[in-house]
Amino acid sequence: MKPRVLITREVFDEVLEFLSPYFEVTSNQSDIPLNPETLATRLSDKQGGLITLTDTIDQALLSRCPNLKAVCNIAVGYNNIDLKACTEAKVMATNTPGVLDDTTGDFTWALILAAARRLNEAESYLRKGEWDGWKLKQFLGLDVHHATLGILGLGRIGQVVAQRAIGFEMKVIYHDVRRAAPEIEQVCRASFVNKDELLVQADIVTLHVPYSSVTHHLIGKQELERMKPTAILINASRGGVVDDAALIAALRSGTIGGAGLDVFENEPKLNPGFFELKNVVLAPHIASSSRATRLKMAMLAAQNLVAALAGKTPPNLLNPF
Ligand code: DGY
Repeated sequence: MKPRVLITREVFDEVLEFLSPYFEVTSNQSDIPLNPETLATRLSDKQGGLITLTDTIDQALLSRCPNLKAVCNIAVGYNNIDLKACTEAKVMATNTPGVLDDTTGDFTWALILAAARRLNEAESYLRKGEWDGWKLKQFLGLDVHHATLGILGLGRIGQVVAQRAIGFEMKVIYHDVRRAAPEIEQVCRASFVNKDELLVQADIVTLHVPYSSVTHHLIGKQELERMKPTAILINASRGGVVDDAALIAALRSGTIGGAGLDVFENEPKLNPGFFELKNVVLAPHIASSSRATRLKMAMLAAQNLVAALAGKTPPNLLNPF
């Protein structure tokens, strides 16, 4: 008898082909997100789950899945998984680090450029047929070249973003809980500063930290008030790192100049205040979404699942026990 696994959301055919020799696979190819009750019911007789960030794995779910041995997230972020509860239930949890850094870094730059140069506003103006000719002062934006880029979180993705800034001849400053090794600072041409200095000095602040109770509302009213009135805030990390209500208030009052956001609190139900603002570029959590990268993420998660259910240590185990 092959082990039974559940794939909780639609995946590429390549992933199904890869997994089917090993497992009896049930896949939610209709891609309708599973509510906690349905997820628990469908996982209750499975040994493994190939899951996504829309699935919450907590103690309540685990208590209903006695056969479960592994949950493999198709994401680098894993704030949807209670690792302590997994360890207690002897369920291995894995993520997909490394394979999405460049693609997410690229998209961060898409947000930076679009927000700084007001591309969303200009495009919607054009599409509405409102353009009546060239004007000297039309859609005046913020120069990205030679500006100061402040990176909060110089992990893998933060480093990619920093290295791309070299082409724009920017000054790069960063803050992290731990200062990076000198080699990393050199490659990124980034200088360590404290969080407050970063907020005060940066023309563009970009966030690349994982979400946790420590990073919850890392950027709130107080932090936004420290930023320049022309500054732009970029978030392609996780919803909840920014206090969305405080950001909306800051964008509305001109406390900061603009924002580029790929992630939100309570996704996919955005705070409606965002839709009333012109000075924010909004994207639906797609920073890692190139076909090649999403396939790599799903395949890496599948490889983790195969290793875990073969009794091996999966390459990206988050909770060794
Ligand atoms: C991740 O890998 O954590 C991304 O947010 C998925 O889109």
